[in-house]
Amino acid sequence: MKNKPAVFITRNIPTAALQRILPYAEVEIWDSENPPSIETLLEKAPEIDGIFTLLTDPINSNVVARFRSSFKVISQMAVGIDNIDVGAATKRGIPVGHTPGVLTETTADFTWALLMAIARRIVEGVNEVHQGIWRPWGPEVLLGVDLNGATLGIIGFGRIGQAVARRAQAFNMKVFYHDLNRNSELEQSLGVIYTSLDELIAQSDFVTVHTFLSKETYHLINRAILEKMKPTAILINTSRGPIVSPDDLAWALKEGRIAGAALDVFEPEPIPEGHPLLQMKNVIITPHIASASIQTRTLMAQMAADNLVAALKGERLPNCANPQVYSV
Ligand code: GLV
Repeated sequence: MKNKPAVFITRNIPTAALQRILPYAEVEIWDSENPPSIETLLEKAPEIDGIFTLLTDPINSNVVARFRSSFKVISQMAVGIDNIDVGAATKRGIPVGHTPGVLTETTADFTWALLMAIARRIVEGVNEVHQGIWRPWGPEVLLGVDLNGATLGIIGFGRIGQAVARRAQAFNMKVFYHDLNRNSELEQSLGVIYTSLDELIAQSDFVTVHTFLSKETYHLINRAILEKMKPTAILINTSRGPIVSPDDLAWALKEGRIAGAALDVFEPEPIPEGHPLLQMKNVIITPHIASASIQTRTLMAQMAADNLVAALKGERLPNCANPQVYSV
């Protein structure tokens, strides 16, 4: 009997997803919380027919170059695929799968949780209580700012940006968005206003970032942008760390150029020990968990499994990030 194709799965994944793969592949699982190193990936690459990846795995052009000619698929359990050299994969005709859609609401919920937590100083309050400091109710103790009636600026108006705008409607917020594409239908249905990036930055009380990471968006939020924000404004980032310059953000917070930041992503991840942002009370940092709900992670893993299996069966990936591979 013909051997089943060899697949490397770079972390333990939900059983429901693994079970979809097992009938079609000989599977090796990287059984660690830490991602495989680039050396490990380079070593495995020539021995496998498919790889199931996470956003922490550097699938660069060297790894792609080492896949054998019959290699079938890179299937990523994430919507963002900036850790993969998609250009190199496309040149070799390798489809890259990803998981758009299923994490939209969960990520928007988490963005909202960060927004509320930073606006209302929840983490500061929790920390004080845990440290045994329960200040008496006081007219000016731990005062935050209201979302109600405030202006929200959404940079990147794809699925997640739009889901955040829907949440803002319930909070009676004025919403500006900036994106490469303007969508007047959405402007009508969501009651959002399109602006230039500069205008959005200058007008918003909260700025939340929802773009993909690319050459164009790398350090999009830099000193020049931060300088234009209101000194009372708060920055939220649940997209990709390198979109915000960490040094420029630390500068802006230290100088009081903005009032606070809540980040689920960072450059690099994990945040280096002793980083100045870790000392700031007006900063919340979470460890890249915006899509981390049981339901969503199960769906993401199943979707990635389905992409992988489709390729192993010689079929088109249901969710392919580089469909150009099918037009040659
Ligand atoms: C999560 O960060 C993703 O890109 O899916």
